[in-house]
Amino acid sequence: MSTDAKNQTALMEKIVSLCKRRGFIFQSSEIYGGCGGIWDYGPLGAELKRNLRTAWWNTMTREREDVLGLDACILMNPSIWKASGHVDTFADLMRECSLTNKRVRADHVEPQSGTVLKYTGAQAPNGWRWDRPITALLKNGEHIESFRKRVRSLIAQNAGEAAGKPEEIELLNEEKIDAVNGSVDFHPETGGMLGEARPFNLMLKTYLGPTATEADVTYLRPETAQAIFAQFKNVFDSSRVKVPFGIGQIGKAFRNEVTPKNFTFRSREFEQMELEFFIKPDEAVEIISGEVAKWHEGADLSEPQPNWGWEMWHRYWVAERTKFYEGIGLGGVLEYYWQTPEDLAHYARACVDILCEFPFGTEELEGIAARGDFDLSQHQKHSTKSQEIFDEELKNAAAKLSDEQKEALIQKRLAAEKAKTKGDPMPEADVRAWFERLFKGSYVPHVIEPSAGLDRMALAVIAKAFEEFEKVDDKGKKETITVLRFHPRVAPIKVGVFPLLKNKPELVAKAREVYSMLKKHLNCFYDETASIGRRYARQDEVGTPFGVTIDFETCGEKGPELQDTVTLRHRDSGEQERVKISDLLGKLLPLCS
Ligand code: GAP
Repeated sequence: MSTDAKNQTALMEKIVSLCKRRGFIFQSSEIYGGCGGIWDYGPLGAELKRNLRTAWWNTMTREREDVLGLDACILMNPSIWKASGHVDTFADLMRECSLTNKRVRADHVEPQSGTVLKYTGAQAPNGWRWDRPITALLKNGEHIESFRKRVRSLIAQNAGEAAGKPEEIELLNEEKIDAVNGSVDFHPETGGMLGEARPFNLMLKTYLGPTATEADVTYLRPETAQAIFAQFKNVFDSSRVKVPFGIGQIGKAFRNEVTPKNFTFRSREFEQMELEFFIKPDEAVEIISGEVAKWHEGADLSEPQPNWGWEMWHRYWVAERTKFYEGIGLGGVLEYYWQTPEDLAHYARACVDILCEFPFGTEELEGIAARGDFDLSQHQKHSTKSQEIFDEELKNAAAKLSDEQKEALIQKRLAAEKAKTKGDPMPEADVRAWFERLFKGSYVPHVIEPSAGLDRMALAVIAKAFEEFEKVDDKGKKETITVLRFHPRVAPIKVGVFPLLKNKPELVAKAREVYSMLKKHLNCFYDETASIGRRYARQDEVGTPFGVTIDFETCGEKGPELQDTVTLRHRDSGEQERVKISDLLGKLLPLCS
């Protein structure tokens, strides 16, 4: 392992340990040995997640006039997953180890070099036999005896008790068959030969109804987005909105990830925060506005404009989401990966991954995709319920077009269909039928989809906030100090409230009064044990941005001018200021929102 990789692992271990020690994140079902890829949030983690959820919800729905919220169920009619393509294509290609049946993602096998050894089978003195050929890789530099020991022990694990002790297993008819260089045909951990790549669907199956037959199969949703599409018409019809507008949803999603890893980064149960922002097709924009605005470097994205097509809307949402991340303290650690035409699904026009620096590398935090009308059209086709909307403005604008102008629009689209490099071009008759509906004001909206993961966001925020340094105390003793420098908006606890001494009833009474006043508005923590320095340190470690100390001055012992004032300590600067109790809320609330 390189020094960089070691440092990354050490940092991640510290973060995982802090999360457990201070009640942010626990392994699920830990007392029973855990449950792979599932994590529970403790008291502080629950607050952190709630703050992130609220920040997303407020920014993406409440503070906007053009986005509405939805809270749909996890279980849905399985036809939704057929229409969306998840039943047929939401799969990883997996290869199985012939020695252990362990699966590995086909694209996660690192090239390995060594000698391929083959046995005709194995047997044990108790009469147990394994009559199947065994092929495994003796890695370069590995001793033949430790290789054999490894193979015996893997076979024993696979066979269970029947095979007896691993060291007594005899490997039959060893034969060196080949030397390989950079081969991807052996399991990275076991060295066993891998089988053909096969698709493995990531959806978690369950049954709806008491009979538990194949007819009752449905799935725990692998994304929240599909419920938004399935309810699009209900929201549109009940909310007096016009395209462009969006529907946002926060909720649980489940994926039977083959290799859950990096703490909560890739889990099997997680929460998504997704927006489906519905827009007019570019042709409708052109008919209404006479042109479709072209994106260019430095284009003004501050206010949406009527002549925006999918490209400007897509750029707009990338800019909006970037602002959001800056507002929760993740500015400066973001990168962008613009998917290449080869990466993109056939229906997608563009997709950018917003990446963030995690201790284990720079990885995806959110994806923002321009998905055309694929999703609603799929549901229209499979449900046979129209997902079209009627646009009066479009109908009126189209009525003013001459036949030549209409034909020119059709020809432009036909040329674009012909130039497609992915997916089948739309047949001319279908293009003409589509334009006929469009000229009457009807179309299936297109969509821009910013899709974020709450758990990844929480992990990113913790990792960015984590800081460790050495400090020498009054007695010359070195200690390691940990601080979480959370942005106050997301910090689980906003204010620590401390009486200077716990054995002075007047200080304690005043401190509890201040605490009661603040906690109605901000999540606060009252602490009277240990020295004031220790109490500050305990709050620094969980990222509390402010500390309020009630001392003798507060009680008027140093004169009337300091009476009813407290010390307000700022975590990051260490600055301490004297603030009137009556001014505290007015000062803290804007800093925390
Ligand atoms: N509807 C689009 C969609 O679901 P995705 O890229 O598969 O797209 C969106 O997921 C976001 O959900 C990701 O960027 C990530 O933040 C989060 N996410 C996806 N799989 C996850 C997992 N196994 N564990 C934690 N978060 C995950």
